[in-house]
Parts: sequence; C-alpha cells; structure tokens
Amino acid sequence: MSTPPVSRVGLIGAGAIGRAHLVGAAGAEGVAIVGIADPSPAAQALAAEFSVPWFSDYRALMDGTQPDGAIIATPNALHVPIALDFIAERKAVLIEKPITDTVEEGLRLANIAHTADVPVLVGHHRRHNSIVGAARAIVQQGRLGTLVSTSVLATFLKPDSYYSQAWRRSLGAGPVLINLIHEIDLLRFVCGEVESLQALTSNAVRGFEVEDTAAVLLRLKNGAIATIILSDTAAAPWAWDLTSGENPAFAQVAPGQADSHFISGTEGSLTLPSLRLWRYSDHSENAVERGWKKPLDSAQQPFDRSNPYVEQMRHFGAVIRREEQPVADAFDATRTLEVTLAVRAAAQVGTSISFR
Ligand SMILES: NC(=O)c1ccc[n+]([C@@H]2O[C@H](COP(=O)([O-])OP(=O)(O)OC[C@H]3O[C@@H](n4cnc5c(N)ncnc54)[C@H](O)[C@@H]3O)[C@@H](O)[C@H]2O)c1
Repeated sequence: MSTPPVSRVGLIGAGAIGRAHLVGAAGAEGVAIVGIADPSPAAQALAAEFSVPWFSDYRALMDGTQPDGAIIATPNALHVPIALDFIAERKAVLIEKPITDTVEEGLRLANIAHTADVPVLVGHHRRHNSIVGAARAIVQQGRLGTLVSTSVLATFLKPDSYYSQAWRRSLGAGPVLINLIHEIDLLRFVCGEVESLQALTSNAVRGFEVEDTAAVLLRLKNGAIATIILSDTAAAPWAWDLTSGENPAFAQVAPGQADSHFISGTEGSLTLPSLRLWRYSDHSENAVERGWKKPLDSAQQPFDRSNPYVEQMRHFGAVIRREEQPVADAFDATRTLEVTLAVRAAAQVGTSISFR
C-alpha cells in the first residue's frame, strides 16, 4: 500500500493564531508542521509542546527544514516581506489575514506570486467552515431566488482589559480593521461582489481614537443591498464568533439561540450560523397567493460540522501539491482588504465609495 502524500510546512509566527494552525495541522490529513520560526520564548515553549524543531529566524527554518510551504502568522507588516522570500524559493504560502496593510502591497505580492506561478492562500478561515460552504451553495443554486438583502450583525463585547494596550486604542487597530474584514470576506464569498459602500463610525462609548461601533451600507454587483452593524462594546450575542462554535476561545451561545447573518431573496431566506431556510412551501395547484399573510415554513439545512482550521490546513497541503486551487488567493484577499479599508475612508469623507 502506498503512503498518501504529505506536504511539509514551516510555521512562521507562533502566537495566538499560530497555535490554531498547529492544532489544525495536527487534525488534518496531508500536511505536517516541520518547524516553527518565532523569536519569542513562548513560541520556543510551544515548539517543545508540539515536539517540533524551533528556529529564532525564518531563514534558518527554510535552510534547516527545506519545507514545501510556509504559514505566515506574524504581525501584518511582516506578511509581505516574509512571503516574498518564500515565493522566491518557489514555496507556497498561507498568509494570515489581512494579506497586508495596503491594497498596493497586496497587489504587488499577488502579481509577483502569479508571475512566479507560486500559490498563495490567505487565511480567511471562515471560507472553510461547512456552514459557510452550505450557505454559498444555497445562494448559488438560486434556492433563495433573486438575492434581495443581507443583514449582518457583529455585536459583541471586548473586555476593558483588551484595550489596556495602547496600540489597540490607536488608529489601525479598531474593530473595523481587526473584525470587520471577516464579515466583508464572508459577504463577498456567499452573497457576491461589492459595488459600493457608505459607512458611519462612532467612538461614543469608549471615547478612544479608534471606533467602537460602525454601520456599513453596501450595494452588491448583483443588485442586492446589505448592511453590517459592528460593535465591540455591545453586551450582545449576535456575532459569528459567539454563535458559530468555530473558536473555543469565545464563550458560545447555545446552538439556535442567536443568529448573526440574515440573507433574503425573492423565494426564501437563510439565517446563519443556524443554517435555517425559510420559504413559502405550498406549491400545490390550489396554492393561494403567497405573501405576508401566509405562514413561512422553516427547516434547518443539513451540513457536516467540521473545524475550519483543520479544513484550511488540509486544503493548504493540497494547494502545495497543486491538487487544489487556493479558496482565497492573493488577488481575492486584496479585494476583501480594499473593501474593508474603504469602510473607514467612507466614514471619514461621508460619501459613498465605489469599486471597479
Ligand atoms: N484568521 C483569524 O481569525 C485570525 C485571528 C487572529 C489573528 N489573525 C492574524 O494573524 C496574525 C498574527 O496575529 P496573532 O493574534 O497570532 O498575533 P500574536 O501577537 O499573538 O502572534 C504573532 C507572533 O509573531 C511573532 N513574530 C514577530 N516577528 C516575527 C518574525 N520576524 N519572525 C517570526 N515570528 C515573528 C511574535 O513573536 C508572535 O509570537 C495577524 O496578521 C492577525 O491579523 C488572524
């Protein structure tokens, strides 16, 4: 019996999300972490915990382990320079989100990787969640009819201690750039491309330089309209992180008690993460005219619950071996970054911002 192929991967940056990748890789087929590069003592301890060779510098990891690919889970500003060094060696990379800090840098990286024919996967992990995959299929199969609107709630409470570090209170670190990017990416992935947006931000509760609350109004290219309400200062459960069961670091609301995404079309509507589909079900010959005076039926749609971090690692292994195309490549992730950055810009100028 032949052994299935395994892609050998180096982990660069082993902080909070680096640990999630280690756990993900441990549960995934076709991928193995062969080394950790991160100068911090905590990362050295983590390497010992997972029995993986530790390096203080990623170039030493590259020379010492000759990996097939690398996960780059460092602070954002290091994503592009480290990725370019691996791409120059023809090693595929999984870069954490945001791909980088600016659209120009994202496009530069995407073009270099494209020319070199080296795959880049960006860590928009929700795309690997089976609930998200099922929702996308339901929308694309037209089961909701023509898409009309989407409402996203991302309302949760970060403890006051979260803001004890000064950088978190400064421009560039608020919930728009840290959390909203996941909502923008999910919206694009499930509902379609964004044509234009308007936004309001507020810091009325915490009074920091960064916003604590934002409202975004988006027009999609397919004609649907979407809203996103985001707040990290609301004692509320309506947020993907608190309801999807995706990340055990966050206390979870009991399944079915709260939803965060409400997608509606002319034939039906869908709530996430419960994956409940609402439709007028009487299609008989004698069916009376459907409408708001008739009952809507609802049923939870079947899906296989999987861990998106495990699935993301399995996918990365397959991407390295050129068996699969990246679910979120560098061009795609740069578009998500562009739309996210436009939210702060639109709130500042007070007018709508359009996209190509
Ligand atoms: N996908 C997600 O849901 C998600 C969640 C959290 C963070 N992130 C992203 O992951 C990245 C890291 O975030 P985090 O929360 O893990 O940060 P973190 O501060 O916990 O970890 C970053 C790690 O990078 C290490 N590092 C710094 N410079 C390095 C270098 N030159 N070489 C190697 N390692 C170096 C640090 O020592 C630290 O251990 C960020 O881009 C962030 O946006 C993604």
